[in-house]
Amino acid sequence: MFGKGFMFGFLTLMWLLVMMGSQRSVFLASSTQAGTRPGVVVQAAEQLPFPNSMISETVLRTTGIAPDTIAALEETTSDAPASSSSRRGPAPSVEVATVDAPPPSPAESGAARYSGIRHVYIDAGANWANTLRLYEDIAGEGHGKATYEVYAFEANPYIATYVDSFARWLNRGGSKPPILIPPAGSLGHLMMLADRYGCDSTSGKKHVVACVQEVFRKPLSLLPLNISLRAQSLISERLAEAAKPLHPLAAQSRYTLVPAGVGGKAGILPVSKARAREVLITGGNPMGQGGEQLHIPLVNFVEWISKHFSEQDYVVLKMDAESAEHSILTQLIKLNKFGLLDVLAFECHPRMSKQCARLEKHIAQAAMMTGTRVLMENNNLNTSYQGLDFYSTPDKYFAVDPRTR
Ligand SMILES: *[C@@H]1O[C@H](CO)[C@@H](O)[C@H](O)[C@H]1NC(C)=O
Ligand SMILES: *[C@@H]1O[C@H](CO)[C@@H](O)[C@H](O)[C@H]1NC(C)=O
Repeated sequence: MFGKGFMFGFLTLMWLLVMMGSQRSVFLASSTQAGTRPGVVVQAAEQLPFPNSMISETVLRTTGIAPDTIAALEETTSDAPASSSSRRGPAPSVEVATVDAPPPSPAESGAARYSGIRHVYIDAGANWANTLRLYEDIAGEGHGKATYEVYAFEANPYIATYVDSFARWLNRGGSKPPILIPPAGSLGHLMMLADRYGCDSTSGKKHVVACVQEVFRKPLSLLPLNISLRAQSLISERLAEAAKPLHPLAAQSRYTLVPAGVGGKAGILPVSKARAREVLITGGNPMGQGGEQLHIPLVNFVEWISKHFSEQDYVVLKMDAESAEHSILTQLIKLNKFGLLDVLAFECHPRMSKQCARLEKHIAQAAMMTGTRVLMENNNLNTSYQGLDFYSTPDKYFAVDPRTR
C-alpha cells in the first residue's frame, strides 16, 4: 500500500510545499491537473504573459489614441467581460468603433476551464477580417471563451495586406488599420452597406456596385499591396506556427495570417491583378486571365491540417474558398481526417449546384460518424451561420464615406 505510489505522492507534496510562496504555484496546481510534467510546467509558467490589466494599459499607450477616448475605451478593456452576454452589451458608438483597442481577452475562467485542450480556429477565406473572430460565435458551448490559435488564409493580396495588419492589431502588436473601402465579402453584404453612401440598395446589384465603386474610386485605386507577403519563406514560416501550440493558459488568442489560398494540393493560382481589384468590394473569385498576372501560392491544406492537429484538439474550420472546398473536404473524408473538425462552417460553390448537393450529402454522412457540427452560410435552416462575426456587422464595421473626410 505504501509503495512507489506513496513515495511519489510524498515527494510531489514536498516539492509543492517548496514551491509555495512563489506565484508559480498557482499555475503549477492547475497545470498539474492537466497532466503536464512538473519540469515542463515551470518553464511554461515563466513564459506566461503579463496580466490582462498590464496589456490593456500598454495597448492604450502604444496605439496613440486621443486621451479623451481612453476613458470610454477603458470601460470595455479594463474589465474583461466574463461571459459572452456582457460582450454583447450595447454597441459602441461609431467613433469608438473605428479607433478601438483590441477587445478584451476571453474570460480567464474560460481559458482555465479548458486548460490542456488546444483550441484552433482556421479561417479559410478570411476576406476583410469579417470572420476572424467567428469562433467566438459558432464554437460549441463554453468553447467560445477559450483562447484560440487562429490561422487565417487569404488569397487576394490586397485583402491579405489589410488582414495582416489587422491580425497584428489583435495580437496587440500595432494599431488598428483603418478600413478605407467597404469591407464587403459578398454582393449581399455590399447591399447592406450601400445606403450609407447614398447608393440605393433597392436599385439593383449592378447599379449599386457601380455607385459604390464611384464613391470609393480613389481609395480603391490607392489600396496598398505589401509585397513582402509574397515571399515563400514568409508563407512557410506562418504555416509552421502551427507546430508551436499556444499555451493553454495564454491570456489572449494568437492570430496568424497566411497570405495564400487553400487547395487540395499545393500549386500556384494565376490571378489577374485587375480582377483582384474588381472583387474587392463584392467578394468572389479573383482568378482570371488578361493584363498583369499575380501568382498566388496555394497551400496543400489537407496535408497541413493533418500534420499539425489531432482529434484531441478542438478545431473550428470556416471555409469560404471559391470551390476549393470540394477537393479539400472530400479528401479529408477519404483520408479519415474529417474527425479533426469539431465545427465546420462552409459555403459551397457554385451554390445550389449538383456538385454541392453531393458534397453536402457526403459531409452530412461523415459528420454523423465524427460528431462534427456542420453549419452552412445563410441557408435559412437551423444549421446556418452568418458570414460575419459579432464585431463585423454592417452597423459596426464599415468605411467612412471619403467625401466626408
Ligand atoms: C508588410 O508585412 C510584413 C510582414 O507582416 C510587415 O513586417 C511589414 O511591416 C509590412 N509592411 C507594411 C508597409 O505594412
Ligand atoms: C435546431 O437544432 C437544435 C439542436 O441542434 C434542435 O434542438 C432544434 O429543435 C432545432 N430547431 C428547429 C426549428 O429545427
